[in-house]
Amino acid sequence: MHSIGIIGFGAIAEKGHLPALQSFAEIEVTAVADLSEDRREVCRRLLPNAAIFEDSSDLIATADISGIDICTPPTTHADIIEAACRRGLSPIICEKPFVLMEEEYVRVARARDLSDSRIISVNNWMYSHLHRRVREVLDAGRIGKVKRIELRTGRPDAAKGIAGWQPRWRTDVSHSGGGVILDHGWHQLYLLMSWLEQWPESVACVARTVDARHALAEDEATLDLFFPGAEGRIELSWTSETRNNGGLIEGTRGNVEIHDDRITVSSPEGVRDLKLNDRLTLASYHPEWFQSMLKASIIRPDSAESDRNFAEAGVLVATIRAAYRSAGLGGVRLPIETVAQHTASPAVRERFARCL
Ligand SMILES: NC(=O)c1ccc[n+]([C@@H]2O[C@H](COP(=O)([O-])OP(=O)(O)OC[C@H]3O[C@@H](n4cnc5c(N)ncnc54)[C@H](O)[C@@H]3O)[C@@H](O)[C@H]2O)c1
Repeated sequence: MHSIGIIGFGAIAEKGHLPALQSFAEIEVTAVADLSEDRREVCRRLLPNAAIFEDSSDLIATADISGIDICTPPTTHADIIEAACRRGLSPIICEKPFVLMEEEYVRVARARDLSDSRIISVNNWMYSHLHRRVREVLDAGRIGKVKRIELRTGRPDAAKGIAGWQPRWRTDVSHSGGGVILDHGWHQLYLLMSWLEQWPESVACVARTVDARHALAEDEATLDLFFPGAEGRIELSWTSETRNNGGLIEGTRGNVEIHDDRITVSSPEGVRDLKLNDRLTLASYHPEWFQSMLKASIIRPDSAESDRNFAEAGVLVATIRAAYRSAGLGGVRLPIETVAQHTASPAVRERFARCL
């Protein structure tokens, strides 16, 4: 039996993680920590047998748990992961963006090496129907070798957090660490890397804040990514008129258009629509994606996949940091140094080498 403690019981924990955790007989949620008394009260109703804490440090130090699931805002993630490693908890599942800075990633990588905890960055779009559909088309060679990918996410505003804590935390950089790049760019970036089966070498980014509601957080951004032999572009906005997701994957023999409810494959064999089982613009709670992720990280742990996922998280952090630096310099193209180069840990360096 896996006894899991949830840290941060807001929207994604209640609507995405909890139903997925509770769908497995092998998992019990035995503890929850949340800063908000309103949210702790909701936990007492939903999880009458769980130990409820205000402070995540108390949960990590004393709760009857084997692993944790971190669903707090981004600036808290690194410290919580490190503390959980020190107690030897495993798995340590952490919502995106996994951590914010290269320095935080290196800290967490060292703690992982010392503890042997399995750490999973919640890259849940890897378990989406969209990802599976696109992967099938690419693996079948329908569009040839992928040369360029463009992905777009537009929202009329930053998503609100749960009432009872700070619903506008996504636009408060002291909690979020940044704006739309961290919120939506994280997902788009790992999808793009996975479809190109490469990691980017350099990035150029322009970003701005257009709407005063978003304070210091960027609400529009374009990232141009340069891979060996391929290119990517990610366009992100919290100022769109509508909620929208879309994109285009160009191959040497054809292309895949990504629409909200389907993908359209054009190749020498003809044009074919493949339906998706959910609209991409629906709220991203999707318990079934979390369920697949939990299966691979808790029920039937796959250490090669967790190593890949951990290394990928390091590339995402390094790419996003380079994108912010580029935006600060007016959009110049900057190399992406993987965080492996910042760490003295041979184990992490070796893991990167295997994953590249
Ligand atoms: N993977 C996805 O598709 C997806 C979707 C939504 C949110 N997220 C991520 O999940 C995390 C939470 O987002 P949300 O939408 O659920 O936010 P939310 O505002 O709804 O919930 C956050 C909760 O964390 C609690 N909290 C804040 N700081 C805390 C701390 N130090 N210790 C304990 N509890 C604390 C708050 O009281 C609140 O209940 C973020 O990292 C976000 O980016 C991921």
